[in-house]
Amino acid sequence: MLILAGKPVVESLAPALEQQISAFKKASGRSPRLDVVLVGDDPASQIYVRNKHREATRLGISSQVHSFPSSADRLDVRALVERLNRDDGVDGILIQRPLPRSFSLSEVSQWVLPSKDVDAFHPELLGRLALGFPGLAPCTPQGILALLAHYKVEVAGKVACVVGRSPIVGKPLSYMLLNANASVIQCHSRTGKLESLTSQADLLFVAAGVPRLIGRQHVRPGAVVIDVGIHRMPDGGLGGDVRMDEISDLASAASPVPGGVGPLTIFMLMRNVVAAAQARLDTATGASVRHS
Ligand SMILES: NC(=O)c1ccc[n+]([C@@H]2O[C@H](COP(=O)([O-])OP(=O)(O)OC[C@H]3O[C@@H](n4cnc5c(N)ncnc54)[C@H](OP(=O)(O)O)[C@@H]3O)[C@@H](O)[C@H]2O)c1
Repeated sequence: MLILAGKPVVESLAPALEQQISAFKKASGRSPRLDVVLVGDDPASQIYVRNKHREATRLGISSQVHSFPSSADRLDVRALVERLNRDDGVDGILIQRPLPRSFSLSEVSQWVLPSKDVDAFHPELLGRLALGFPGLAPCTPQGILALLAHYKVEVAGKVACVVGRSPIVGKPLSYMLLNANASVIQCHSRTGKLESLTSQADLLFVAAGVPRLIGRQHVRPGAVVIDVGIHRMPDGGLGGDVRMDEISDLASAASPVPGGVGPLTIFMLMRNVVAAAQARLDTATGASVRHS
């Protein structure tokens, strides 16, 4: 079984992004900028935010973190996001999840302007993706498609099965696979007989958030399996949604946890920041040319 590691994919894509960043700096006289909004003190979120900040800094993207206590009034958080939306120096805005219960996700997902929504939570962006229109796309599904492309896994004409239908992984991933001409089966927690659907797939994507959900009986011989789940396992290590030990002599290729999809997600976030910055610069330049 071929191991689809994420790090070599990031290493192969990084030079092009670094080039884009230096071209942007030359043209605009500033660095692309990402602003992260963190509400509460969830330890995992703090680690994710720190990692994003570190990766941004490494690439020469300026990054600011705005922290609120978990007791924060949602109107205060919203006021900050609106200020960042208006700020011409801010290219990308990310509201770290999970949020405290007092925040409605359907409301929050509409706070960031679609042109600055580098996590691509805004319903308009999901709609654009579904229709195959250009726009920022969610980072994890973008990373998965990049992983497949790097390892030359054919998507067109294949049967793909996606386990999970979250607005940030499962649904956008299905749209991307469909746009890439796969035939897509979408599963979720109410799917009856999961294995009867997953075992039809040439390409199986698992984003259920259930440790070791998928085993031998779910996988078609020769299938490519992408494990998106990430969990702290009882032995203290990290593991995914797939029982890799059961499928290693059955699947033709699989992404490991950790070290598979994870490194690509953060890279795609940085790519979204640069894309958002460049699109705003192009618009501003176009406007100044038209008005001169
Ligand atoms: N590596 C990375 O970079 C990365 C990035 C994002 C997420 N993740 C991980 O990926 C996993 C999924 O993330 P998410 O944000 O999409 O999670 P989520 O919002 O909790 O969504 C989970 C989805 O899985 C479905 N599901 C739950 N139990 C199931 C079952 N027994 N059988 C079939 N489907 C089931 C749910 O169905 P319903 O819709 O019916 O509830 C839901 O659609 C998590 O482990 C998360 O930590 C990793």
